[in-house]
Amino acid sequence: MINVALPKGRLGEKVYAMFEAAGYECPSIKENNRKLIFENPERGIRYFWVKPSDVSIYVERGAADIGVAGKDILLEYNPDVYELLDLNMGKCRMAVAAKKGFYDDGQKTLRVATKFKNIAARHYASLCREIDIIKLNGSIEIAPILGLSDVIVDIVETGTTLKENDLEVIDTIVPISARFICNKASFKFKTAEIERIVKHMKAQVDAHD
Ligand code: PRP
Repeated sequence: MINVALPKGRLGEKVYAMFEAAGYECPSIKENNRKLIFENPERGIRYFWVKPSDVSIYVERGAADIGVAGKDILLEYNPDVYELLDLNMGKCRMAVAAKKGFYDDGQKTLRVATKFKNIAARHYASLCREIDIIKLNGSIEIAPILGLSDVIVDIVETGTTLKENDLEVIDTIVPISARFICNKASFKFKTAEIERIVKHMKAQVDAHD
C-alpha cells in the first residue's frame, strides 16, 4: 500500500485528478463528506487530505510515502525528503511587495512581514540588507497598509490581492510550483511502486506542456 498525503483544497483536487488519470483512482474520495482518509486496496493506494503546509511533515516522518507540496513550503522548512517531480501546477511566485511608490533608501532596518521567515531571511542576507522580520500567519498584505511593516514577502499568483490593496511587486525571489515529494526510506523499500507512479505522473505533466 502506498500512502499519499494530498494538500486539502483546490490544488489537492487537481493533484488527485492527476493520480486518477495515472491509474490510481479511489472512487470513494469523490463522496462529499468530511472523511479524510480514502483507500482503494485493488490499486494499493491510500489518500489522505492534510493542510497543504503539513504535507511535507507527513512525508518526512513516513506517515505518508509520497505527497504533493508547494516549493514555497519546501524552501521554507527544508524537509528531509526527495523531490522527485515538478508537477507544473499551482504556479505562482515568491515576491517582495510594498505600498505603491515605496522606495527603500537602505538607511534604516527594513521591516519585513511574512509567513516565510526563512525565505525572507535568506533573500535579504544575499543582499546584505539588515531586516527585522515580523512573522504573520495570513492576510500579510495588511501589514504595510497599517504601517506594521515596510514590505512583505509573500506568494503572488494572479496579483489581484496586491492590486486591490494598492500594493505592488518590487522584487521576485523565486518561482513556485507544486512538487511530488517522497519519504527517503519509502523510496528505498518501495522503489518500483513509487517509480511507476512518478513515471505515470510525469507522462501527464509532459502531455500538458
Ligand atoms: C495567498 C497569498 C496572497 C494570495 C495571492 O494567500 O498569501 O494573499 O494568495 O494570490 P493572488 O495574487 O492571486 O491574489 P492565501 O489564499 O494562501 O491565504 P493567506 O492569507 O492565509 O496567506
